[in-house]
Amino acid sequence: MTQRTLVLLKPDAVRRGLTGAILSRFEAKGLTLVAMQLRSIDAAMADAHYAEHVEQPWYPPLREFAVSGPLVAVVLEGDEAIGVVRALNGATDGRAAAPGTIRGDLSLSNRENLVHASDSEESAAREIALWFPDLPA
Ligand code: CDP
Ligand code: MG
Repeated sequence: MTQRTLVLLKPDAVRRGLTGAILSRFEAKGLTLVAMQLRSIDAAMADAHYAEHVEQPWYPPLREFAVSGPLVAVVLEGDEAIGVVRALNGATDGRAAAPGTIRGDLSLSNRENLVHASDSEESAAREIALWFPDLPA
């Protein structure tokens, strides 16, 4: 089933000059770019995006990271895109993520792990509407 998913190339990806390398992996997999924007967000946008995590003890430093510099927001489309992109990203903790995944190959951190991707159809719908409210269906 064709799906859309919301991906963030987080501020560490922009700072480290890895946005092109990461996007290349998604494109090489066969996913289609539907929307893309370089932007800096404020704390309110970080809280909206990470609504499910705002009560976590580790959320304040995550918010600081999220607003620490520009990021690239992307909508990708393809067959089973939500699960496929999560698999390409790898496990949350870059130290534990499998080699071959984006985080496994390129991140050594549980926080600065380069990428976000929607984790369900419900999350994808919410996140795409949050980041790209004017995107046609
Ligand atoms: O991004 P993913 O869905 O794999 O993980 P999550 O459990 O939804 O956590 C969201 C983000 O919070 C992670 O990608 C990390 O950047 C950050 N995080 C953190 O800073 N400290 C933790 N202990 C866990 C997650
Ligand atoms: Mg998550």
